[in-house]
Amino acid sequence: VEHWREVEKSFPPLKNDLLLRAAKGEETERAPVWVMRQAGRYLPEFLEVRKSHSFFECCQTPSIASALTLQPIDRYSLLDASIIFCDILVVPQAMGMTVLMEPSKGPVLPQPLLSPSDLDRLNKNVDVQKELGYLFEAITLTRKGLNGRVPLIGFCGAPWTLMAYMCEGGGSKTFERSKSWLYKYPEEAKQLLRRIADVCAELLVGQVLAGAQMLQVFDSWAGELTPYQYKEFALPPLIHISHKVKSILKSLDHPGVAITLFAKGANAPSTLRLISDPNVTGYDTLGLDWTVDPIEVREYVGKKVNLQGNFDPTVLYGGKEGIEKEIQRASTNWKKAGGGWIANLGHGITPNVKPEDMGWFLECVHKYSKRD
Ligand code: CP3
Repeated sequence: VEHWREVEKSFPPLKNDLLLRAAKGEETERAPVWVMRQAGRYLPEFLEVRKSHSFFECCQTPSIASALTLQPIDRYSLLDASIIFCDILVVPQAMGMTVLMEPSKGPVLPQPLLSPSDLDRLNKNVDVQKELGYLFEAITLTRKGLNGRVPLIGFCGAPWTLMAYMCEGGGSKTFERSKSWLYKYPEEAKQLLRRIADVCAELLVGQVLAGAQMLQVFDSWAGELTPYQYKEFALPPLIHISHKVKSILKSLDHPGVAITLFAKGANAPSTLRLISDPNVTGYDTLGLDWTVDPIEVREYVGKKVNLQGNFDPTVLYGGKEGIEKEIQRASTNWKKAGGGWIANLGHGITPNVKPEDMGWFLECVHKYSKRD
């Protein structure tokens, strides 16, 4: 753990620092671009690997996770970042829960947390290095494989989103089980969120020490909460994570890395204001989904925070002409909004996208995000 300097010295120098500059608030010459879920089911080379390996086998085998991380980087020279191949649900696994990835169903947790007595089933002291060391190994391996082409992003799920999976037992339309915890057992819910946050913080620190150059926290189910619930339940453990990550890194004399919060659907003006002051939250960049206008968001949040996003993911089904028109329109809008901008989709890329349309999308972002 103390060896991060040695680890860092073993990596080739970074040739493309556009993302890291934008993450510091610089209005870069063009927007750095990457795509959430850029490694995955729309890529034939990914599907080929999945024929012979289960999903979590891919996550847990550093050589496979690293190869999958590099697939989109090898295919698209226009990507400005890589994100390590793994999943947010490795945290519930480390806490002692079984998580399965079922072919057309997505994640299944067969023993969900239904009431506070179920908390006793979770590991009391999670040894993150032991449970999730494979991820750290994958990161170090990937930094070498990247050979400095682009920076590597580490990530985890946000406590609320992870709690939702742990209580629902998988995806949900109503969020009946997880949200009823907030009403029936608010104090126990906060304890659970805090326990999850502690594991997330250690997971993020481990990723940085292994070579991750930036971090993102995915709060995919933020939009299920009322503004009050976001402030009361979701935000405190998120702040706990960023502060804990920063303080541990500082204690190791590490300069620290930028952190992005992607709180999908947390779009109430009051919530946006609440989560957009890096001095309070510890998050330097806010990821936006496609339902908001960056000019409007800038009116609420000012220029303190960098923004990431927020092209409509379905633009990738729009055909060459449709893609170009929309990326030109939306990029012009983004440049008017001003401030640090990291270009991305407003949520993950979807399975049926044609790989050549993703390539065209990247060409369009390079072209139209240029500042004059
Ligand atoms: O390329 C990357 O972005 C890196 C890898 C990555 C995966 N999942 C791989 C994955 C990342 C960053 C994630 C994050 C993740 N996982 C989130 C947050 C982002 C979001 O989309 O909101 C969430 C909610 C999950 C949980 C999860 N994992 C679900 C709901 C599913 C099933 C649906 C789906 O997206 O495929 C997964 C499976 C998963 N995670 C796959 C991949 C490539 C597909 C699994 C397969 O091959 O069968």
